[in-house]
Amino acid sequence: MTKTTPTRKALITGASAGIGATFARELAARNYDLLLVARRAERLQDLARQLSREHGVRCEVFSADLADPDSPRAVAAHVAQLGWQIDFLVNNAGLSGRQTFVATPWPQLAGEIQLMMTTLTELIHRLAPSMIERGWGRIVNVSSLAALSPAGESLLYSAIKTYVLVMSESLDMEFKRHGVHVTALCPGFTHSEFHDVMGTRGVANKLPGILWQQPEAVVRAGIAAVMKGKPVCVPGVVNKVLAASMRPMPGWLRYQMGKTFNPFKA
Ligand SMILES: NC(=O)c1ccc[n+]([C@@H]2O[C@H](COP(=O)([O-])OP(=O)(O)OC[C@H]3O[C@@H](n4cnc5c(N)ncnc54)[C@H](OP(=O)(O)O)[C@@H]3O)[C@@H](O)[C@H]2O)c1
Repeated sequence: MTKTTPTRKALITGASAGIGATFARELAARNYDLLLVARRAERLQDLARQLSREHGVRCEVFSADLADPDSPRAVAAHVAQLGWQIDFLVNNAGLSGRQTFVATPWPQLAGEIQLMMTTLTELIHRLAPSMIERGWGRIVNVSSLAALSPAGESLLYSAIKTYVLVMSESLDMEFKRHGVHVTALCPGFTHSEFHDVMGTRGVANKLPGILWQQPEAVVRAGIAAVMKGKPVCVPGVVNKVLAASMRPMPGWLRYQMGKTFNPFKA
């Protein structure tokens, strides 16, 4: 009797646009069943229908506001209700505020922290044990080149993405011996809706084209890195050069650069 291997399951947060939707396309093409999570249900459903049709994979959607502290529990409950165990987790949902710190209402700042730090971490805590138990898992946490760059004035974004980077390295150390790899993916400027949501499209469009990457290149680099067990992935030659040149900078110079050269300053 031949035993068929069950199709691997991937959960992608922020799958309704940009880098997350691209992860969905790339993982469907690699024959993963998908659970797509974001707030905009209609977009998720359209993408799910398209990917099931094109790749013959099962594609489920779950609409959730991941800035809600209850959302990780709700997402995990949905996974259990489907009878799934997640093999590949992409913690991608994110955005950046733009106003000064004091001008931003606290619920908005708390929402950014919940979305990109607490929810992201709790999803790993809820989903990693079954990967460890089964001896195979892949986790990509989308950080940013901002985690390796001077901090931007007013923004929590640099600090949040630095947390994602360092936390990913720590968890990779813990999980690796169980066959589970964690990678912090650190994209630079990537074509998506990020700058429309942030309200910085005008400034972003003036940046030199050499700084920009298509989401497909970013996502393929991220998947290749996590499959190889690389804990940090800076996609693209230009981003790698930028990251390498910023790393040895003394603290005072990083501070001055962040203060002076932030093109997105509110
Ligand atoms: N684009 C860049 O230049 C760049 C560079 C470095 C890092 N990144 C990181 O890449 C990740 C993806 O961003 P992107 O560039 O693809 O931006 P995007 O096109 O704006 O996509 C952001 C995704 O996050 C989801 N999201 C935002 N808030 C959410 C919430 N409260 N609950 C659930 N989902 C939420 C959005 O879905 P809904 O609105 O439907 O909820 C959307 O699917 C982010 O973590 C970002 O920080 C982007």
